[in-house]
Amino acid sequence: MTDERTPVSVIGLGLMGRALAGALLAEGHPTTVWNRTAEKATDLVAQGARPADSVDAALASSPLVIVCVTDYDAVRALLTPVGAALDGRVVVNLTSGDSAVARGTAEWVSGRGGSYLDGAILAGPAEIGGDKAALLYAGPRPVFDRYASTLGSLGPAIHVGDDHGLSSLYDVAVLGLMWGILNGFVQGAALLGAAGVPATAFAPLASRGIGTVTGWLAGYATQIDDGTYPADDSTIDVHLAAMAHVIAEGETLGVNVESTALARTLAERAVADGHGGSSYAAMITQFRKPTAEGEPTSEGRPTADPAPDAAAETAAYDPRALLERSRLGILATIKSDGRPQLSPVQPYYDRAAGVIFVSMTEGRAKTANLRRDPRATLEVTSPDGWAWATAEGTATLTGPGTDPHGPEVEALVDYYRRAAGEHPDWAEYRAVMVADRRVLMTMTVDHVYGERVG
Ligand SMILES: NC(=O)c1ccc[n+]([C@@H]2O[C@H](COP(=O)([O-])OP(=O)(O)OC[C@H]3O[C@@H](n4cnc5c(N)ncnc54)[C@H](OP(=O)(O)O)[C@@H]3O)[C@@H](O)[C@H]2O)c1
Repeated sequence: MTDERTPVSVIGLGLMGRALAGALLAEGHPTTVWNRTAEKATDLVAQGARPADSVDAALASSPLVIVCVTDYDAVRALLTPVGAALDGRVVVNLTSGDSAVARGTAEWVSGRGGSYLDGAILAGPAEIGGDKAALLYAGPRPVFDRYASTLGSLGPAIHVGDDHGLSSLYDVAVLGLMWGILNGFVQGAALLGAAGVPATAFAPLASRGIGTVTGWLAGYATQIDDGTYPADDSTIDVHLAAMAHVIAEGETLGVNVESTALARTLAERAVADGHGGSSYAAMITQFRKPTAEGEPTSEGRPTADPAPDAAAETAAYDPRALLERSRLGILATIKSDGRPQLSPVQPYYDRAAGVIFVSMTEGRAKTANLRRDPRATLEVTSPDGWAWATAEGTATLTGPGTDPHGPEVEALVDYYRRAAGEHPDWAEYRAVMVADRRVLMTMTVDHVYGERVG
């Protein structure tokens, strides 16, 4: 059903709201506008918009009401006093937020007799009204269908599902993708920049690379949905080796390659879980169970057991308490040229025993460094970034073992038990420890220091 001249009210005339109202006017929709700061309506009124002198009046003017303000607190502040006026209205909320609050708002609107679509805008104001914008809508399909043509005035309108939370979820999924791509590009520009290559020379090749990766997505999506990960192109083991090259190059050139180091940490976990021979799609297993939140893994990375109370720690700062609950840290070992080698690790601190355990892989630089010089230092930082703790000590290495029931693997089993309790499949764990050539670092801590600075 088309409704090209549906009257629409737009509440919120910030940068985005003005673009939305302008696009509706351009398509000939009778458009009523309201903004807390009334002057922002001036240009739109000059283009034919009708100014409303209250939110109530804006709701009364049109069957379809678009809200686009800073956040959901503002949405609530605007709509709560006029709840009765929502009866019979369709509210399309294009304010950014999260899925839970979107669902809650939908319930609240329907409790007042209104219908609700939650939306997400994948575009900037300049793209609104054009083909490059994409606007996602979540909520009852019949409501979307009724106004699809009107909403199409803002840019391609995509219904993502009846669940009101889905537009926000798609939004955050795309945002995460964006930063992954951008960080990769900026890191690449820094690596090439170290050799004097301008970013403009890299950009065309980067675009081509993104295109290549784009081509893999549909196949990987099928594998993720099926839960099987045949490596038709390359295995995670192969990716891991390539990540090591990137990190080594970054370290040599003094370029920050932390984002690749994080990718390596995740890939190492996938390998430890038995996915070394799988396609990259198997990395989904690592994103579905963030170990930082405390889930045991086959690798034996410890759980974040309900750790020492953070509040207690702030009263009199205790760096050992921070060490105890930290599951990510930077391990410093000493390279053959005397420089420190810094490696992200997942430590487990057994305070009572005064030792820190790290499960590592034979052949990695940190493992080789510790065999040459056992002095090690581990630094951890609190999640809010305001506290840090450093432990110094001497490391001993156990393994790698070749026998799943030999003493080297037994040491890893013991470490896992202490850190995380019983593993769901000890046979699998033992096999992975051998296959991955896992080594257990046990660092006897002789000095701990740290500070809370905020
Ligand atoms: N701009 C973009 O590129 C873009 C892209 C995608 C999504 N979005 C989303 O669109 C929404 C609006 O963004 P924007 O760029 O238009 O922001 P903006 O230019 O900062 O405008 C914010 C709007 O919210 C209103 N507002 C804030 N608090 C309010 C309150 N308590 N009561 C009444 N009105 C209030 C402001 O009114 P006043 O004018 O009176 O201050 C203004 O109309 C955000 O959720 C944003 O995430 C924006």
